[in-house]
Amino acid sequence: MNILGIETSCDETSAAILGDGGVRSNVVSSQHCHGDFGGVVPELASREHERLIVSIVDTALKDANITKNELDVIAATAGPGLIGAVMVGLCFAEGLAWALGKPFVPVNHVEAHIFSPFISDTASSRSPERDFVSLTVSGGHTLLSVVHQDLSYEVIGRTIDDAAGEAFDKTGKMLGLGYPAGPVIDRLASQGDPAFHRFPRALTSSSQTSRSYRGNFDFSFSGLKTSVLTWIGQHDHAFIERHLADIAAAVQDAIVSVLVEKTVAAALQHRVGAVSVAGGVSANSGLRAAMADACRRHGLELFIPAMAYSTDNAAMIATMASLMLSRGRVGENAYNVAPFARFSPARRSQH
Ligand code: KG4
Ligand code: ZN
Repeated sequence: MNILGIETSCDETSAAILGDGGVRSNVVSSQHCHGDFGGVVPELASREHERLIVSIVDTALKDANITKNELDVIAATAGPGLIGAVMVGLCFAEGLAWALGKPFVPVNHVEAHIFSPFISDTASSRSPERDFVSLTVSGGHTLLSVVHQDLSYEVIGRTIDDAAGEAFDKTGKMLGLGYPAGPVIDRLASQGDPAFHRFPRALTSSSQTSRSYRGNFDFSFSGLKTSVLTWIGQHDHAFIERHLADIAAAVQDAIVSVLVEKTVAAALQHRVGAVSVAGGVSANSGLRAAMADACRRHGLELFIPAMAYSTDNAAMIATMASLMLSRGRVGENAYNVAPFARFSPARRSQH
């Protein structure tokens, strides 16, 4: 079976082909037109997706060495995301599926990140074989969920203000690092000293009484943002320039330590033996190293998708569609699915 996945929810235009042996192609084009604006401009994103979608899908088919007539299923992100951007990929995919007379599967972008440990690109790809705790960290979302093999999951924590990716991007913007600043902070941090300054860590065991911490897996990053802004205001430009790597390391340490502490605490409290990290921020080398170290110490199995599948990509959309089909979780076929902007899973009590 060949599944075409299409992803256009933010500023990556991506198409992938998933075959029986795993991912056959995964083409991702990142938009560079937003840098001067310090964030993604929705209208520009939609126009770029529109300009590129046909050639990206063509390249994905060519790379997989198949024609569109050999496709069995077409899947696309239906949300959450920038509504205009989502609509470009969604309408294109529905139109193509309708024209080819093939089924269309709408995919939830955040769920595709959550289930990205199941992306297989070689026969030897490892994927979770038991329940696991997923830390899903991107530019728009920060979620902790307990994930089950039947594709159900419960969100047990989420950010109450900024997402982890936003914390990287917004503090980076204050430091003049461009957009998106996450990868730049990552690079700089590897040459800096994380102990240079201690930025605040919100809603952690040290910031609350252990009684109120129990079961609270929510995150908050807006205090960190304010603290970085205040700190920058107290130091002159030359000092900040000289210590950019140290500041990046200190900011990264503040974000990463909270993410690791909560994920491990969630896995232990919910008695699952495995953890996964997904979403754009899972590309962060400090997070990868710290999570690997913490999981080793607590005897937890760790799944982090390969770098190509950390940031937005269509291989995860095709994989999610394949999982939905195999678990019988696809509704009646329709070619007029409504796009949606926000992620709103049912939330279960943690106690
Ligand atoms: O999943 P993603 O590609 O798009 C969304 O769905 O939001 O995530 C993008 C986010 C951005 O905030 C970007 O700065 C962050 O992921 N990011 C990183 C790194 N690579 C991407 N953050 C920290 N370190 C990185 N290496
Ligand atoms: Zn994403």
